[in-house]
Amino acid sequence: MKNIPLCKPAIDEEEIAAAVEVLKSGWIAHGQKNHEFENQFSRFLAVNHAVSMNSCTSALYLAIKALNIKGEIIVPSFTFVASVNAIILAGAKPVFADIEENTRNISPERIVEAVTDSTEAIMVVHYAGLPADMPAIIRIAKKYHLRIIEDSAECLGGSYNGVKAGSYDTGCFSFFPTKNITTGEGGILTTNEEQIAARVRIMCAHGIDSTTYRREKEKQPWLRIASQYGYNFRMSNLLAAIGVEQMKKIDKLNAQRQELADRYLANLSHIPSVQPQFVPEDFVNSWQMFTILVPHHFRDELLVYLRSRGVGASVHFDPPVHEQKLYQNIKQGSTLEVTRKVSKSIITLPIFPGLTLGETDYVCELIDQFKGLG
Ligand SMILES: Cc1ncc(COP(=O)(O)O)c(C=O)c1O
Repeated sequence: MKNIPLCKPAIDEEEIAAAVEVLKSGWIAHGQKNHEFENQFSRFLAVNHAVSMNSCTSALYLAIKALNIKGEIIVPSFTFVASVNAIILAGAKPVFADIEENTRNISPERIVEAVTDSTEAIMVVHYAGLPADMPAIIRIAKKYHLRIIEDSAECLGGSYNGVKAGSYDTGCFSFFPTKNITTGEGGILTTNEEQIAARVRIMCAHGIDSTTYRREKEKQPWLRIASQYGYNFRMSNLLAAIGVEQMKKIDKLNAQRQELADRYLANLSHIPSVQPQFVPEDFVNSWQMFTILVPHHFRDELLVYLRSRGVGASVHFDPPVHEQKLYQNIKQGSTLEVTRKVSKSIITLPIFPGLTLGETDYVCELIDQFKGLG
């Protein structure tokens, strides 16, 4: 039987050599590789600043803190709990808005319905690699004077009209092993505003405004003066070194995902009851996941069928956040009808750079043969 995992990190000799070099260097904690990684990342996104850290969840949390948002933040319920947790833990108030069925991204119309006098920001989640409808969302943000926090955990390299997701306002990325690049665990915050980047760097490192690495180059490196209460959310030099090697390959890795997605799209196009994610004109999907909608009464059966044949199909996300007990009292700014429907019908199929076209064909053949879908 085949064994096709949902995803697999693309770690090669370059990442291993880079990690060994850092281990041998003796400077394992936050250091020079972080600066290199951040410079590479900000060049790739065409933003002024990137701050590497331990996770996207930390980046989301610090974005809210650095922007000093305490009021309502509109966010999709169709997301990973981390988006909502960050809002709550940072002391702001999440308000759920519905998504569009075809893109699975937050709906601009539903955002407008959710806006109140207390709204301060929109947390856009670029789902599965596809940027949300940014032109419409920017118009809304301008009209109502809202900040945009981009949860771009699932979207590194996705763009609209050449502008990359995560570069519009405050961007937050994840380097968890399922993402477009990985450092094992890790994240980065991007911004064009120097003041926001500076605040985030300080909060990330104990509230001290010079890093150990920089201090070593100063006159009195033994002075560690905190200007505020801070956290330790830093990424290590070791992980940043892996990130540097991954970023060198990002275009190649995403091109491989595109080739696999194209194969899925071609193979599945003749099954009308299977709906892949729709990519509107001028949008580039970085295909962090490949998701399909199927009739909801077949969904679980199809999952079990695929998994029993060695295909690591999964679901992102069911239940949606608002259906989880912990989050049941969170305000719903719009109907969540589409979220409910999509979450019960969605399946994530394997996609990662090491997957072969033959394996993609195998997954599609299985779907083709599944009795309910013909
Ligand atoms: C939409 C979304 N937001 C946030 C996160 C959290 O990222 P991290 O694990 O780096 O904190 C994830 C990761 O799974 C995600 O998919």
